[in-house]
Amino acid sequence: MRGLFITLEGGDGSGKSTQIRNIEKFFTDKGLAVLHTREPGGPRISEKLRDILLDTENTEMDAVTEMLIYAASRAQHVRETVIPALERGEIVICDRFVDSSIAYQAYGRGLGDMVAEVNRHATGGLSPDITIWLDIDPETGKARASGDKGPDRLDLESTDFHARVREGYRHIAETEPERFKRIDATGTIEEIKEKIYACLEELCRERCI
Ligand code: TMP
Repeated sequence: MRGLFITLEGGDGSGKSTQIRNIEKFFTDKGLAVLHTREPGGPRISEKLRDILLDTENTEMDAVTEMLIYAASRAQHVRETVIPALERGEIVICDRFVDSSIAYQAYGRGLGDMVAEVNRHATGGLSPDITIWLDIDPETGKARASGDKGPDRLDLESTDFHARVREGYRHIAETEPERFKRIDATGTIEEIKEKIYACLEELCRERCI
């Protein structure tokens, strides 16, 4: 049996971490095995690449270098962690995936189609069963962010950069409405949870889970 691959997207202050815990609970309450992981990161090598990517001292990093390191981290994560868990029949919940590279590198950095092409190789064609995008205006998000972790290298980018990132997500939402679900992240934690659970209930019905 193949498990389910669920990804979450959303910037600072969107409530992503809280909602990931809710998604985990949704499936553990059904008695299913869940693997919670993240990008960039997951296995040891990918976590090392994460440190390089998010280090605020790496200001000179070239956009193509950045895109390739995200893809390299992903290639290792998919093969070492995600696919084995799906093959064991587990529910894999991943904080960010390829959509982040499309939004941040293709749209934010302006690298265009090259990003999807490179990532086809990085993922070997693996795509999420469903993606939840917690959409919030970047300025509102920044003001709401809990501040429990300092800003990473990309958080420090300009307002224009973050507006392009959001434009990238909007484009994905328009082109892949079946997989990529936009949820307004300005509501309360409980309201957002209810909307996410409705999407997950529908997916479970479709897959007879
Ligand atoms: P997060 O773990 O706090 O969500 O931070 C990851 C950062 O990396 C965030 O600023 C978005 C960025 N990112 C990309 O630019 N491209 C990617 O492919 C991924 C996975 C993340």
